[in-house]
Order: sequence, then structure tokens, then C-alpha cells
Amino acid sequence: MTIVAKPGLRPANPNFSSGPCAKRPGWSLAALADAPLGRSHRAKIGKTKLEQAIELTREILKVPAGYRIGIVPASDTGAVEMAMWSLLGERGIDMVAWESFGAGWITDVVKQLKLEDVRKFEAAYGELPDLSKVDFDRDVVFTWNGTTSGVRVANGDFIPADRKGLTICDATSAAFAQNLDFAKLDVVTFSWQKVLGGEGAHGMLILSPRAVERLETYKPAWPLPKIFRMTSGGKLIEGIFKGETINTPSMLCVEDYIDALNWAKGLGGLEALVGRADANFAAIDTFVQKSGWLANLAVVPETRSNTSVCLSIVDPEVAALDKDGQAAFAKAMVSALETEGVAFDIGAYRDAPPGLRIWAGATVETSDLMALMPWLDWAFANQKAALKAVA
Ligand SMILES: Cc1ncc(COP(=O)(O)O)c(C=O)c1O
Repeated sequence: MTIVAKPGLRPANPNFSSGPCAKRPGWSLAALADAPLGRSHRAKIGKTKLEQAIELTREILKVPAGYRIGIVPASDTGAVEMAMWSLLGERGIDMVAWESFGAGWITDVVKQLKLEDVRKFEAAYGELPDLSKVDFDRDVVFTWNGTTSGVRVANGDFIPADRKGLTICDATSAAFAQNLDFAKLDVVTFSWQKVLGGEGAHGMLILSPRAVERLETYKPAWPLPKIFRMTSGGKLIEGIFKGETINTPSMLCVEDYIDALNWAKGLGGLEALVGRADANFAAIDTFVQKSGWLANLAVVPETRSNTSVCLSIVDPEVAALDKDGQAAFAKAMVSALETEGVAFDIGAYRDAPPGLRIWAGATVETSDLMALMPWLDWAFANQKAALKAVA
């Protein structure tokens, strides 16, 4: 079997997981020393931290002044489900999905909420559905950046400004790396553990004035658990959007989120974060274009994610294997890279086509991705040699 020499350089940080994502450069536990641990989150000290997290979010993401920003339980899933359970059912819904998370929201709406006037717009991994067919006078649920296929919408131009329905956007792999068009979005959700490398557990829920109006004028036919309730007596509970969380948050996670936001601010804010993700994507893309054995799973270049970069192995001998064979090949590469300590968690998502998925969000250093690329060649060549040896 041919043994290919190991590259000389190793990534300083081998964490390329798509969530929880790499901590920011220079992060250590010492950054959390100011966390008000052992104190009530409702005491002034805790409440001030929660307000600070909300205001820094507004500043960095450039959230319009009239939009509410809340910290909610259960990470991005909690935020999306809270929005769907509270807002949907008032009118028909167009569900738009092109990978497993979007598909999960369809399951929620069809099988759990059991809503009937639902149209589905779905596409295979690597593609986007035809967005021109979506009716924005209905409510629309979609994912801005499909983490498991690496396909994103290029911008919000497909959404009309004068829509009658609400747009509910799961933006967890997009926020802080891509420009979200807030004027076109009524609900935006994300978690802390993605582009800013924060911790899991808490979600962010951003509501447009139209979403608030719906909350105050429409009552769903189904019961809402306390954890989802955003109104009281038909009025928005404004406190939720001022740091009075529905239940108890982790002040350690809050401190970590504030640390990440301050890091982002120090870099220059959103433009700098988008710039870092774009540069990271470019480092991977340059390698992929030259590789001869890898291709981006996202077919259309403008839809290629700059965070969750999903790659297929297109080498003819590997592509000729059945799906299990391709999955085993990719898995063996991923495992060899992990054993070498040069890349952790870069296998494709379990429901996605076999391949690699490399996180390129802002907390990842371009130099680490550059160092990783030759290792992909190394792992591929070795696995290819193993394949030949078996044949
Ligand atoms: C697009 C998308 N939606 C939802 C989720 C679920 O997020 P969480 O585990 O933070 O609830 C993820 C996680 O990877 C995701 O990528």
C-alpha cells in the first residue's frame, strides 16, 4: 500500500465542528471570570448581563430598532418551535426545506401541530427549491443556511417587502456570518453555539413588529406550555425582550456569549465576521477547485455556504461505490484525521449524502483551514490506497 507522507504543518486549532463550533481565537475559561455565578439572574447584576447580551446582539447584527430580541430556552430549536407554536395556524403556510433541519420543521408543522393548509417546497441535498413559487401572503418557514447541505439563500430578494404573511427564518448557521435582511424577516432565530462559538442551551428569538402584532391578535387553538408563552392577557410580555427570561438561564453561558460578542465588536462587527467566514470559505474552495477529487455539495455557487461547507468525494472510483461504500470511505478519512489530531468532527451530517463538512465560521482561523487542506489530500490518498489494496 502506498503511504503518503504526512504534511509538515498542523492546524493550531483542529476544531472544525458545525456546532458547537470552535471557541473564538484566544478564548480561555478566564474570559468568564466576571460571570455572576451563584446570584439570581433576576438580581440587578444578572439582569444587566442579560440586557447587555441583547443590546450587543442588536448592535452587531444591526437589528432594526423596532424589533424585539429575546433570550429563550432550548437553543435554536427552542426558539424556532416557540415561534411556530405561537404564530402559526392563523393562515396557510408554505414550508421551504432543503436539508434535514428544514425537514424537521415540516415534521413539526404537519405531524405535531397537524396544520392542514400546508404547502411543501423541498429540494434534494445540494439544491434550493424554486423560491419563486412560494406565496408570501401565506406564512413561510425556512432555514437561511442549511447546515447539513451547505446550501444557503444568497440574500432576501426572493421575499417581497409588502407580504401579508410572516417569514419565520431559522438563521442559526447564518447569523454573524451572512447578511440577514431583517426587513424581509419577521422571526429570526439562532443559538449561541454556532458562528460565535458560544455555548449550547440558549436560543435567540428576534421578532418584527408584524410578528408581535400577530402574537397580540391571534391565539392558537392548541395549549401552549409556559416555556413558549410570549403574551399575557393578549399583550406581549415585554420583559422577555429586556432580559427577564421565562425561566432560568445559565449565567456562565451568558457571560460566554457576551465575551464572544465583545470579541466580534473588537474585530469590527458584522462586516469583519462575514469577512472572516468568506475568507475561510475561499481557503477551502481554492483547495476544492484544484483537488480533482472533491466538489462542493451545493450546486449553484451563490448558494454555497461560508459556514457549513459540505463537500462530496467525486473521485470516480469512490463515486462508483454504493452509498454505504462511499460513507465508509469518508468515515475512514474523517477518523484518520481525528486520530492525527488535525481535524475533529468533519464528517457529513448523519442524514446528508456521504462526504465532509468543514465549519468555516468566524471563530475559525483561515491559517488553520490552510493547514488542514493538505491533510485532506493525505487522508484521501491513504484511503484510496487502502481501497485499491482490497480490490
Ligand atoms: C439549521 C439548524 N437548525 C437548527 C439546529 C438545531 O440547533 P440547536 O441544537 O442549537 O437547537 C441546527 C443545529 O445544528 C441547525 O444547523
